Amino acid sequence: MNTRELQEEIIKLKKEKNICILAHSYQSRPIVEIADYVGDSFQLSQMATKVDADTVIMCGVRFMAETVKILSPEKTVLMPNITAGCPMAEQMSPEYIESVKKKHPEATVVAYINTTAALKTICDVCVTSASAVKIVSELPGKDILFIPDCNLGSYVAHKVPEKNVILLNGGCPVHAAMTAQDVIEAKKLHPNALFLVHPECKPEVVEQADFVGSTTAIMKFAQESDATEFIIGTEISIAEHLACDCPGKQFYQLSSRLLCNDMKATTLVDLYNTLLDGTGKEINLDKDTIVKARVCIDKMLELG
Ligand code: 13P
Ligand code: SF4
Repeated sequence: MNTRELQEEIIKLKKEKNICILAHSYQSRPIVEIADYVGDSFQLSQMATKVDADTVIMCGVRFMAETVKILSPEKTVLMPNITAGCPMAEQMSPEYIESVKKKHPEATVVAYINTTAALKTICDVCVTSASAVKIVSELPGKDILFIPDCNLGSYVAHKVPEKNVILLNGGCPVHAAMTAQDVIEAKKLHPNALFLVHPECKPEVVEQADFVGSTTAIMKFAQESDATEFIIGTEISIAEHLACDCPGKQFYQLSSRLLCNDMKATTLVDLYNTLLDGTGKEINLDKDTIVKARVCIDKMLELG
């Protein structure tokens, strides 16, 4: 089958079986085109509480599928490619964070949603790139232990100077690989372009941006802006989607190195096979983990 035929089969099967397909905006164009809902991590979490279907397929990475399962434990949650994990989510173990918490007993523990369900069970509140600044600014305590992304944490600390934000040495290997020199070179090549960036990039990169935001916020800014040229400082899919959505505008990737292999692990064929037979692709979490991890995700949805 070619791409179009596969897409048509997927649309037919999901209707027949009443299955909802959620996709993160870093997914490839063919998947984004046939998903029921596409969004950033915060929007996908909100959708997880609203979906009617008994089965949800998450095209993204494991922590996103776990979030759906935590918010809708009665649903069957499937991942088309069960190996797709976010390397940042695995960087810090609950044991390590318990030991750090002992050194900062007064701190509120803020977990980026890019963490495992097990790690969320020992945190106070989750945030996403779209909601982190708002949520941290509304927390009552002054001391914030922000895990695991020190770049997003630095951005939050800069935006909310009244808080004492304690950072650890974690982050996204894809975004953290960008340098100030990458931005200087991209701006030299495209002097009229606005530079839009994801806050997972290093401060030296973020401080050169015209706009900082989540994947969805970057897309919305570019779609609504009067400007016609943009350098996109996040995963390469975003520039591709924008080029399709806004044919009159030019989008340049900050770097071809901004490729998340985990986000690209899921293919249309994986999705088709999952619709035919989801065996071995189901997300299972024990009841205790679901109950405890849900506390900090619910708090995020309430504050965000
Ligand atoms: P968003 O929350 O902006 O969708 O980001 C998710 C992510 O994994 C960024 O690398
Ligand atoms: Fe994780 Fe980075 Fe990939 Fe996002 S881009 S899923 S943070 S590795």
